[in-house]
Amino acid sequence: MRGIMGIRYFEEEKVFQLDSKDASYVIALADEEQFVGHAYFGRKLSDCHVRHLMRLDEGPFVPSKNNRDRAAFGDAFPFEYSTHGVGDFRESCLKVETSRGHEACSLVYRSHRIYDGKPALEGLPATFGTEKECSTLEITCEDPVLQLEVVLVYSVFEDNSAVTRSARIRNRGSEAVYLKKALSACLHLDGLDYEYITLHGSWARERRIDRRPLTHGKHSVSSLRGESSHQDHPFIALLTPGANQDSGEVYAMNFVYSGNFLAQAEGCQFDTTRVVMGIHPENFSWKLEPGEVFTCPEVVMVYSDAGLGKMTRRFHDLYRGHLIRGEYRNKKRPILINNWEATYFDFNTDKLLSIAKEASSLGIEMLVMDDGWFGQRSDDNSSLGDWQVNEDKLAGGLKRLVDEVNKLGMKFGIWFEPEMISPDSDLYRAHPDWAIQIPDRTPSRCRNQYVLDMSRREVRDAVYAMVKAVLSSANIEYVKWDMNRPLCDLGSFCLDADRQGELSHRYMLGVYELQERLITDFPHLLLENCSGGGARFDAGMLYYSPQIWCSDDTDAIERLSIQEGTSLVYPLCSMGAHISDCPNHAVGRITPFATRGHVALAGTFGYELDVTRIPQADRDMIPSQTAMYHKYNDLVRTGDYYRIASYSENRQFDCWEVAAKDGSEVLVTYVEVLRRVNFKSRTLRLRGLDPEAVYENEETKERYTGDVLMYAGVQVPEPWGDFGSRLLHFVRV
Ligand code: DGJ
Repeated sequence: MRGIMGIRYFEEEKVFQLDSKDASYVIALADEEQFVGHAYFGRKLSDCHVRHLMRLDEGPFVPSKNNRDRAAFGDAFPFEYSTHGVGDFRESCLKVETSRGHEACSLVYRSHRIYDGKPALEGLPATFGTEKECSTLEITCEDPVLQLEVVLVYSVFEDNSAVTRSARIRNRGSEAVYLKKALSACLHLDGLDYEYITLHGSWARERRIDRRPLTHGKHSVSSLRGESSHQDHPFIALLTPGANQDSGEVYAMNFVYSGNFLAQAEGCQFDTTRVVMGIHPENFSWKLEPGEVFTCPEVVMVYSDAGLGKMTRRFHDLYRGHLIRGEYRNKKRPILINNWEATYFDFNTDKLLSIAKEASSLGIEMLVMDDGWFGQRSDDNSSLGDWQVNEDKLAGGLKRLVDEVNKLGMKFGIWFEPEMISPDSDLYRAHPDWAIQIPDRTPSRCRNQYVLDMSRREVRDAVYAMVKAVLSSANIEYVKWDMNRPLCDLGSFCLDADRQGELSHRYMLGVYELQERLITDFPHLLLENCSGGGARFDAGMLYYSPQIWCSDDTDAIERLSIQEGTSLVYPLCSMGAHISDCPNHAVGRITPFATRGHVALAGTFGYELDVTRIPQADRDMIPSQTAMYHKYNDLVRTGDYYRIASYSENRQFDCWEVAAKDGSEVLVTYVEVLRRVNFKSRTLRLRGLDPEAVYENEETKERYTGDVLMYAGVQVPEPWGDFGSRLLHFVRV
């Protein structure tokens, strides 16, 4: 037996056991050929004897005992990394095409390596940890016919029940081979008595929680838009029936990638379940020359034995501790005011300064200048790619504006959309071939723009030089990186015919490379990703920016569902959330200013309105709102998140809390969507407290023990009027 940290190999049993804080993941080698199979994922085990779960002693038996039914074996065995074409007719992870046109592939174990720490994935975002925090298993497999090597990479974190996976595929042969499909992870669950959750949406209504029973056949969500998308999300969770926030088992997978993806659960013929995740095989093909390696992006798998709430907290801890990087990772973010909903394209230096002046006097700390400051851009029809300041709007230039804003004691931030090019731009007139398009086919415009071919180094270099020049010209401390259309008409002028299928992934690698350059050159910059709202709110982007704009829908009530779905996986400190003006620009709804503040407090917290024009009563509330942010943000950013009630489910009220990890305080946010008449107060049962400690309600000074607050509950009178909200802060005495 050899053991390093949480990963052990049991030689006699031919079993790998990966133990994290409270989960075990067990892999076993089967048969003389040494197929790599999945034995178990779930609650932590003290014993590795789980080979029986693979049912190798039942028909059709392993090929060494029954070669006449090798294909039937392949169709039942729980492969750790399924391959196409040799009898496994379920969803495969790997499909190749050889120079002779054959697609079959079969992998067997060759060797393995266990070590402390976790390798970076070249050019890709991934979770990270020190040698003390995590350990890694690499299982090297081979297809001897193709001379294709596949290294399955697993890491476990000591302080989390997460297992991460990726795969490296190396061509050890003498001829090129085409990868037609290279997913990242495959998981087998015994039985198919599960429900599953995915996150669905559209522009302005991202990441709503969908829950359905699993049945036979394939159930998938995906994106072919070149972005993780508004519509579906690279996340899937399987739940034991009836699992809720506190109980039931959950097996969740989240993709650390921002482009096309497939997430699929398959109810198979013997009532077992196969879950796969990876880059979507459509629009994908990768030519692997002899000696070359393809790296599959990372999948994070989280197991919870105590419902969705624990799954959520595991993701939050993992991403806060082992994915988000940079100076702002553990830091309070400056309260910003963004001029998009305040002015749209209609602004100039004076207008921006008038907003900044008023905002600074109210406690707002940073002005963000959104779309429209460059080229000839006065609406969304032109100038993307011409990243030069429009001095007709910004009289005296950018530096003057930034200096004036700084003099007010505020930081300054700016908007870019670096991946795009307007047909009406100097850049396009000079380089029409830099746009993604197919020769002889008119490319489809979207928001009147094309997408730059980010797979090309010269394109990236040219765009980056412009962005860098702007950022170096003044004291700019924040960038909002936007991306406002999906990819289609996939064609690159620089890829050979047999490499065009590489474009979507090469595009993503190009974007990652650019963002890495940006945060390396400007280490103090606060980067916020954005994609027409939240079309690229994903774990891949979190590796580069500690916060991501959650949605263009800033209405406090719409945000309840959007933020509930987003926070199911992603920490509150990453959710871009602003207080905007009413009637709300997306839905026309009028909500109390206080409620807008309470909802934005569950995210990064900022403003998106013309502070010089909002009602005086709202303006008067801003100093207390900014003080509220400073008071609670450390707790909100670092604490444990509990979902108490869901407006998406009950259609009446929403409630969540953030409890300090040491149980010393808890902040509860309660939103009553439509005021009910003639009802008693609501009882809220809190969570995550020390049952024996005494807590004081900061406002009413009432004292309760933790067990009373958690098991009996506390009563909250409904706020008067529709869309009312309350904050309750309990502090341990
Ligand atoms: C979409 C973003 O989500 C908005 O916040 C704004 O930046 C616009 N783009 C600007 O075009």
